[in-house]
Amino acid sequence: MATRPVGKAHRQNARHESFLRHGNYRYLKLASLMSLAAIVGYFMVDAQPRPNGGSLIGYTLGVIAALLIMWLALLGVRKRAISQGNWKLKGWTSAHVYLGLSLIIIATLHTGFQFGWNVHTLAYALMMAVIISGLFGIYYYVTIPEEMSQNRAESSQADMLGELADIDRQLEEVAQPLSQPFVGWIQSAVTKTKITGGLMTRLSGQVKRDATARALAKIREAISTAPSPLDEQLEDVASLLERKSVMLERARLHIRYKTLLELWLYFHVPLTFALLAALSAHIISVFFYW
Ligand code: HEM
Ligand code: HEM
Repeated sequence: MATRPVGKAHRQNARHESFLRHGNYRYLKLASLMSLAAIVGYFMVDAQPRPNGGSLIGYTLGVIAALLIMWLALLGVRKRAISQGNWKLKGWTSAHVYLGLSLIIIATLHTGFQFGWNVHTLAYALMMAVIISGLFGIYYYVTIPEEMSQNRAESSQADMLGELADIDRQLEEVAQPLSQPFVGWIQSAVTKTKITGGLMTRLSGQVKRDATARALAKIREAISTAPSPLDEQLEDVASLLERKSVMLERARLHIRYKTLLELWLYFHVPLTFALLAALSAHIISVFFYW
């Protein structure tokens, strides 16, 4: 019999997935219904001379699409105003995703499939770009934070830094009775280790020429090549450096995921602003020329 996953990992899984399933797919149903109504409306109404944004159904769909876009854009404001945690606004995120996707149908039918090199099509293209970037966002939100919380293993970023500082203090203590070159290696692991660096380093999750890894390699080499009365102390140093390496790896992975999410927002949000600008231009221009 298959066993149900239990415990914290399962709960976290459920929490991360559930915005897509929120309220028994309430917003998927609503979005499907709206899209269906748009399709039925589009084919029932015999717009003359051909379907376009200016017919009654075209106009209705355009207004609905524009209201939806403004509402979707408000998510950011609302999110910042209400809560720090992403998942408190599960219902909103669920509605955001499904109603956002329904725009593909509603706004496309509004255009009557009339595209050209103009501000109207620019607004449409930007809308599609926001939606496509949204799909990438879903991928990240569903996969990454789950790994991130597993990776974090109960400890927040502040805890990780605290733990690293604690290991550094212990390293300085065990280094005291030792002489050169050991003290030098340990000092460099304490003072020269970089947790992360520029954008590429953050994204890679790895740091080149890591001072802790280098110190660990040197100490291990010293232990294995020349047995000495210091070996016991050096073993203590090595195990502290190993703990530090594990913590560093975790912190770097955490930073990597956070950076990926931030990078995604750099697309989704500015594209939204560009869309709002192009949409305003579209609406104003049709009122002048239509
Ligand atoms: C208040 C909302 C809206 C109004 C009043 C509106 C109005 C119109 C009108 C009157 C037309 C026909 C223009 C013509 O035949 O020359 C049109 C076409 C079009 N609309 Fe909208 N619209 C709205 C929202 C939107 C939205 C949200 C999008 C997509 C993001 C959009 C994209 C387009 C496109 C691509 C066309 C076809 C342009 C063409 O014929 O070359 N509109 N709209
Ligand atoms: C034209 C349609 C859309 C607009 C204008 C829009 C706009 C926005 C804005 C302004 C935010 C807030 C970002 C922030 O500052 O935290 C946001 C978040 C988000 N959007 Fe969209 N979006 C649209 C469509 C979509 C679609 C179709 C998807 C998914 C398929 C999507 C997925 C997301 C996700 C996952 C978030 C983060 C939610 C959270 O942190 O709770 N968006 N969107």
